[in-house]
Amino acid sequence: MNKLPQHEENSHAVENRKSYLLHRQTQYQYAYEYAHTIAVVRKLPCREIPGIGYWLRGGINLLQLIPSLPNLLVTFSRYLLGKPLENYQDYVFYPFSPPNPRLVDTFQQDLTFGLQRVIGVNPVVLRAVTRQNPLPAALPESEIRRIFAEQIIEVDYAAALEQKRVYVLDYASLEILQQNPGSIDGGRKQYVTTPIVVLFLQSDGLLQPLAIQLYQDARPDNPVYTPKDGNLWLAAKMFAQVADGNHHILYTHATRIHYVMEAIIMASRRQLYKSHPLSVLLNPHLQHTLNVNHQHTFLRNQKGQPGRYGELFAGDYDATTQCMANAMTSFNFKASAFPNDIAKREVDNPALFYPFRDDGMLLWNAIQSFVKEYIDVYYRSDADVIEDYEIQAWTNDVSAQDRGRIPGFPARFESKQELAETFGHVIFLCTAFHSCIHFNQYKYPGFVPIMPHSAYAPPPMGKNTEIDAAGLFKLQPAFRAANSQTWTYFQTNFTVNRIGQYPLGQFDPAARDVIERFRSQLKEIEGQIDQRNSNRSVTYDRMNPRLIPNGVTV
Ligand SMILES: [Fe+2]
Repeated sequence: MNKLPQHEENSHAVENRKSYLLHRQTQYQYAYEYAHTIAVVRKLPCREIPGIGYWLRGGINLLQLIPSLPNLLVTFSRYLLGKPLENYQDYVFYPFSPPNPRLVDTFQQDLTFGLQRVIGVNPVVLRAVTRQNPLPAALPESEIRRIFAEQIIEVDYAAALEQKRVYVLDYASLEILQQNPGSIDGGRKQYVTTPIVVLFLQSDGLLQPLAIQLYQDARPDNPVYTPKDGNLWLAAKMFAQVADGNHHILYTHATRIHYVMEAIIMASRRQLYKSHPLSVLLNPHLQHTLNVNHQHTFLRNQKGQPGRYGELFAGDYDATTQCMANAMTSFNFKASAFPNDIAKREVDNPALFYPFRDDGMLLWNAIQSFVKEYIDVYYRSDADVIEDYEIQAWTNDVSAQDRGRIPGFPARFESKQELAETFGHVIFLCTAFHSCIHFNQYKYPGFVPIMPHSAYAPPPMGKNTEIDAAGLFKLQPAFRAANSQTWTYFQTNFTVNRIGQYPLGQFDPAARDVIERFRSQLKEIEGQIDQRNSNRSVTYDRMNPRLIPNGVTV
């Protein structure tokens, strides 16, 4: 029987648990990376390195790219001869395993730009403009009202605000990258701005971008671009996508999923005995993440070379790592709970086509009730929670400044409800949420022109800037795009497990029943999402339990 520490029957068992955990604490010690801010394990313990089966799956996955290699060779030879890529089709480096064939012709359309906000890799930036949450002060409201009146005839601006039909994306947090641009490949300069984008919710539920300002500060060359501005509009949208690509990885994905999970995994290894009921529950969700996080994707390796993938981002090394540190210190775990986040961003208008929100609520509710039932098996009352000194040490490890440093994580648990909500949130974060933020990467930014992680020519300097089709090409990265596409292919076609998989032999009979009920609920949700997708103009499958891995395994 898996037991809470206070329910151990004799002092020998209690001592045994303590000495096991003391040993673990020597193996999992804290270090702070990314401008000395984000907690990581000082040295990766061997048990965190996946076995041969994991690497074999990764290798087999890459074999699928072999038929496309002759094509890649031609592109590479052309690059070595100094010839730029000639058209957007050239960015499909693996034509036999293309990211998303339709995007080559549609990625510059306004509709595609709007859809990225709700089904793309970073569907958490969008927020409604309302009386409580007005437009960012850096954007002149009078100008937006004028543009709105010019472009939208079916409703006036005030009514559109009332009906939650005006939305905004604000990338002010990327100021540090804009101020400290990077360069790669012998000095090729990278560019990123801090755009503000205004969108309108059409009557068909889709978002139409109306206006983009590229910088936050008042400067003469910082106009508001609109769809009437031709190639300048295409360039402005591309800079908005560059900003979103940086925000996606540096804020949402790497920092607020991978490194939040790192702190949770460290606490679990250090403070929960292997047969603690919540360790048994959590363990299947914690596999391989520490190994993934320690691959020097961003950080310098022992030879001092920055991560090859990290270099693609628009800031220099210090700015990029500081940006990730900022993403962590400005994070709040509790506020990021799925329903809290939807409420805070005021994206609850049911007319908005937002499958991430609609399917996500099914998963959030299912996981929350599963964890609540599981906790009911072991904790009879709030007192049981308060007396569980292992779980109290666990949450202290995740939150304390000299430990995991996750802002907004409870310092103590006072009730069963708080415990269940927190564990449900952790499981949602590393399964359903990571599925959405990670696994659409090949489908969308895998085709690099839709979301390059840097631009390679300066942004437009006002409405008199001349940008022709060749100018738009210059903004795009060249051969490094193949590197990015290969990396995202490897990372996103590679799964090793699925949500709801638990080694039942390690669970007590009552807990097994709870797991079986959860599994049948996941099955039901699969059917519900399949049904929804059959009626959607664009399908969204990242919240379908059939496709959600059981943790941050890649
Ligand atoms: Fe990931």
